[in-house]
Amino acid sequence: MNDSIETIRQQVEALRAAIDMHNYRYYVLDAPTIPDVEYDRLFRELQQIEQQYPQLVTPDSPTQRVGAAPLKEFIHVTHRTPMLSLNNAFEDAEVEAFDRRIREELNIDAVEYTVEPKFDGLAVSLTYEQGVLTTGATRGDGYTGEDITLNLRTIKSIPLHLPIEQPPALLEVRGEVLILKADFERLNLEQQKKGEKIFANSRNAAAGSLRQLDPGITAKRRLTFFAYGVGVHEGEPTPYSQHSEIIAYLRSLYFPIAHEYKVVTGVTALLACYHQMATLRDKLPYDTDGVVYKVNSLTQQEKLGFVSRAPRFAIAHKYPAQEAATELLGIDVQVGRTGALTPVARLVPVFVGGVTVTNATLHNEDEVKRKQIMIGDKVIVRRAGDVIPEVVGIVPEQRPPHTKPFLMPDHCPVCGARAVRLPGETVTRCTGGLFCPAQRKQAILHFASRRAMDIEGLGEKLVDQLVDHAIVRTPADLYKLGIAALANLERMAEKSANNVLLAIEKSKRTTLPRFIYALGIRHVGESTAKELAHFAGQLDRLMAMKVEQLQQIPDIGPVVAQSIADFFAEQHNREVIEQLRSSGVSWQESAEVAIPASSPIRGKTFVLTGTLPNMSRETAKERIEHFGGKVTGSVSSKTDYVVVGADPGSKYGKAVELKIMILDEAALLELLDGCASSS
Ligand code: IVH
Repeated sequence: MNDSIETIRQQVEALRAAIDMHNYRYYVLDAPTIPDVEYDRLFRELQQIEQQYPQLVTPDSPTQRVGAAPLKEFIHVTHRTPMLSLNNAFEDAEVEAFDRRIREELNIDAVEYTVEPKFDGLAVSLTYEQGVLTTGATRGDGYTGEDITLNLRTIKSIPLHLPIEQPPALLEVRGEVLILKADFERLNLEQQKKGEKIFANSRNAAAGSLRQLDPGITAKRRLTFFAYGVGVHEGEPTPYSQHSEIIAYLRSLYFPIAHEYKVVTGVTALLACYHQMATLRDKLPYDTDGVVYKVNSLTQQEKLGFVSRAPRFAIAHKYPAQEAATELLGIDVQVGRTGALTPVARLVPVFVGGVTVTNATLHNEDEVKRKQIMIGDKVIVRRAGDVIPEVVGIVPEQRPPHTKPFLMPDHCPVCGARAVRLPGETVTRCTGGLFCPAQRKQAILHFASRRAMDIEGLGEKLVDQLVDHAIVRTPADLYKLGIAALANLERMAEKSANNVLLAIEKSKRTTLPRFIYALGIRHVGESTAKELAHFAGQLDRLMAMKVEQLQQIPDIGPVVAQSIADFFAEQHNREVIEQLRSSGVSWQESAEVAIPASSPIRGKTFVLTGTLPNMSRETAKERIEHFGGKVTGSVSSKTDYVVVGADPGSKYGKAVELKIMILDEAALLELLDGCASSS
């Protein structure tokens, strides 16, 4: 009996070691080596054995992360050494002064520093006694924090025990708990679906999730941890003498460490890292609000010591805030190229993300509702990197008494045509089409853009004037422009007018993909335009294609196919195309329809019989022909395939008799799919 429990204990330990390793690979290294189902299987196996042998359960078993009962309140814990804060620098000069003070204090010429991200989450302390996680606490006021052990245990990237035979008697690891950007987006979507409050930023979400009395809630929030230091280390000589070695030591203990760690010498290198990290910032998986510089040598750190509550050996160099509060003066509605009406916030100018912002997008009507935005509200504006500024939310406590709701207009603010929002869509659109000057301007700008017809010098200001003076109504009118009309416009000298005319003339020689893209068909971007040109070979052929035929083209789904067919069905569009061609816009066409040379059904003969479940016989025929197959009316020894639907006629019997390959609809579709992908 004892023997067998020993065997089981060994089995349990092996399972735990395997699960810990897979956890580490998944949550820390982001490089799993087994599929999720296999992980789940191991986990369930461990759970089952532990259920059967409760005496084998230990608190650091991976099954024990979740499941603790909710607390009534958090108890306070005193930190063994205070968790201090960092001084901040905003300007390069402040960093230079920081480095100068250190050099003077240490009386050396150049200082070695580590540069690391400043995580925008919550500082926590993790205490491991004899290698087992016993206490996890918030920073609190730096001297005492709250005991949030149960919550921290639910974070899968935090080891429940140290993976070494002889752990230090006491190790206190410090770091930051946060929510990765992607998990934050997902969390807010879920909150919204459940009708619960959405979080303004990932830091608030992490804080809200960590300070939950019910660890069950924390467990569902996908929190992450990054270690950045050691508070206390007792019971063995410390295996490090530099901060960078602490980081390496923590990494060897399977603590998650951000990839972005550097060791550099001198202030010039510090500033270079800061600027380099700024360009990376948007691409990092987590939010940062700056970088932290730390003197690398621990002896030097000790010499430098502390001033009040912050170390002299480290400083946080902050980025300009990406979010700022300001007042929402009003909401304008802008009309885009495809007629989309976008609510745009007019703001009291505010400095954010390094620039002054006066307008910010509100995306669409639903977003305004979801964020409960009223005109007059105090709002939070965000400008991150090159992304257009957006209003992320309101400050509810600061709502003034007389705010006004936003109403999406039911008519286009530019042309007055009806604005409609189709069921299932979030966007309201002007129905004025190219009669709407706003859409017309955008359509012309798109037509002239670099990747379309590439008309240099035809910018926004010029297009505004051309459309406002009714000189240009459609792209075709561009090719009728003369020097007189252009030179009369504001800020148009004869020379630049001439240049524009030359650019227009030059654009006449183009390619079919560019021309198709330039037309501005909804959902047809550059790569779709190339695909269409390749498959149709000729514009006339594309214009004549039916929705079903368009769908044969790789990557063209029903929505895009419909949009293309609708565009060419519109008389106005056909006229514009005709005018463009007659004013000399031209490209090389290919006589051949691009049937893939390797099409497996090229030259093969098909016979259709019976009713197919989802496809008309006509469609089936078109699709077969599209890939170079032939459809005939009767089965003979020359027939290659017979496609059979419900209630087939005598052709079916004949096919069986002649041992001809029989396909049902699914098999036919599979065959056609193979044709599309071999192109
Ligand atoms: S070291 C004595 N390193 O910044 C130095 N802190 O203002 C203690 N923080 O509460 C901190 N990233 O939450 C350090 N790489 C990093 C950090 C970092 C974020 C936070 C930490 C602390 C605050 C200090």
